[in-house]
Amino acid sequence: MAEGRFITFEGGEGAGKSTQLQRLGDSLSRTGVDVVRSREPGGSPAAEEIRKMLVSGEIQRWIPETELLLHTAARVEHVASVVKPALVRGSWVVCDRFHDSTLAYQGYGQGLGTDMVDHLHRLLFGAFQPDLTLIFDLPVDMGLGRTQRRGGDEDRYERMELEFHERLRNGFLEIAKRYPDRCAVVDAAKDENDVYDDVIACVNARFSLDLD
Ligand code: TMP
Repeated sequence: MAEGRFITFEGGEGAGKSTQLQRLGDSLSRTGVDVVRSREPGGSPAAEEIRKMLVSGEIQRWIPETELLLHTAARVEHVASVVKPALVRGSWVVCDRFHDSTLAYQGYGQGLGTDMVDHLHRLLFGAFQPDLTLIFDLPVDMGLGRTQRRGGDEDRYERMELEFHERLRNGFLEIAKRYPDRCAVVDAAKDENDVYDDVIACVNARFSLDLD
């Protein structure tokens, strides 16, 4: 792969990832880098179609294995048509969620375990992983409180039980411990500007940059 870089934003509900992702994208663009902002599930027309089946409707509409396959199908589309071409062009891709969300939500939260999720990833994507993953961590009640104020109908996961959200929060922290070279945990309970300072510090350290 060429010089592009792949940065993913991860975390539970209401962690403020999207705002931080936009700000980082703006900051990188100011340095002359071509930035592609994307998200999962979704990020390409076909993957957005699959997204609709996952983020709304009845909580029990899928069994966890189906859910894993649907998220993975969306990822196959997104990586092939958006992420890899952008990286080959030398663009920086900043993406709201990726494989670690599948590990946390389906692996830890929905109880499939990490082996099955990792196995499927390796089968389809080999060793392909982000260059940097920022894990936005905050107490579950605080995150869910923020999403309630936001509203909207893409709330299928938000409506899942509190214990599910606790499991996936702990799952993300486990992932950060497992992959310390790739992952950095950001305290998302702080206010927006302080979180952003931490995001910039992580990106500068990882890529030897001087963003502000
Ligand atoms: P979003 O609300 O952050 O856009 O993400 C949609 C939901 O999909 C979010 O609740 C997390 C969930 N999700 C999974 O359960 N597994 C995955 O692999 C991904 C990417 C997202």
